[in-house]
Amino acid sequence: MPDTITVSPDLATWMKSIQEKIEIALNNFLPETKQIPERLHDAMRYATMDGGKRVRPLLVYAAGQLFDANKDELARAACALEMIHAYSLVHDDMPCMDDDALRRGKPTVHKKYDEASALLVGDALQSHAFFILSQGKNPPERQLTMLQILAHAAGSQGMCGGQAIDLASVGLNLNRAELEQMHQLKTGALLQAAVLLGALCGKTLSEEDNTALHRYSRAIGLAFQVVDDILDATADSATLGKTAGKDAAANKPTYVTILGLESSRLLAEQLRQEAHNALLPLTASVHRSERLNQLADFIVQRKA
Ligand code: IPE
Ligand code: IPE
Ligand code: MG
Ligand code: MG
Ligand code: MG
Repeated sequence: MPDTITVSPDLATWMKSIQEKIEIALNNFLPETKQIPERLHDAMRYATMDGGKRVRPLLVYAAGQLFDANKDELARAACALEMIHAYSLVHDDMPCMDDDALRRGKPTVHKKYDEASALLVGDALQSHAFFILSQGKNPPERQLTMLQILAHAAGSQGMCGGQAIDLASVGLNLNRAELEQMHQLKTGALLQAAVLLGALCGKTLSEEDNTALHRYSRAIGLAFQVVDDILDATADSATLGKTAGKDAAANKPTYVTILGLESSRLLAEQLRQEAHNALLPLTASVHRSERLNQLADFIVQRKA
């Protein structure tokens, strides 16, 4: 393990600098509130700006830095992913889905505005994500691949598919394979897309690098939702910025209900190791992949 190698600056400082860049980039990419329809644009900004850990953008940048990606292309891909993610949260919180009142420490979009607005915010954020990604300056074939990756990860064989399984699974006792599939789709798919899009902002991937990044991102994608399930059961709403204990209240099958808390923690730790191991064959230097290792650690060790 390359645990003696550190990248500069430290993770917390680096995360803060990327989060600040993303805030500026989102502000530039989103339509201004004064544009008609003002209320919809205001709600799109409310849903997207000033909140969240920005894990998907962080993964875009960390993967991109492996392959000397252009910083404007990284900002574009990172914002496209964050818009899809923000849309998924707005819809996830609606009464027809998880019926939540709190998100990122603020009232959810349907509470602050209204249900129809929340629906349209999600729709418009999704379209806008593809619009901005389509304006990238990467070679056209690579740009097209990136659009396809995002579309696949967001759609019925990715996030939306996972959400459909989630809703259909209330009260059911899923087996391990079914639970893993649901988590890989509803959450893993967008995290995987973040890693791949970041790397593709740098270059067309060799088969070896593609395999390594797929393995890494599958591991952290699953780990992310395992930890989300653990935090739902163990943390408080003030820390999470969203309602804790929702999964049990809604009778959702989660890693905590299927495996128990201790085995879920163990699984998250195994996935963290798997993510580190997956990066070993990367052709970029070990030094550069350290940032992705740090993000795998962050995803598993986070408290919110
Ligand atoms: C929450 O995602 C929803 C899941 C996919 C588990 P995040 O934990 O990344 O939420 P934010 O963006 O930090 O608010
Ligand atoms: C949501 O999973 C995953 C998405 C696609 C948004 P959850 O329903 O567990 O997310 P939280 O806990 O509300 O953030
Ligand atoms: Mg949900
Ligand atoms: Mg939810
Ligand atoms: Mg959750």
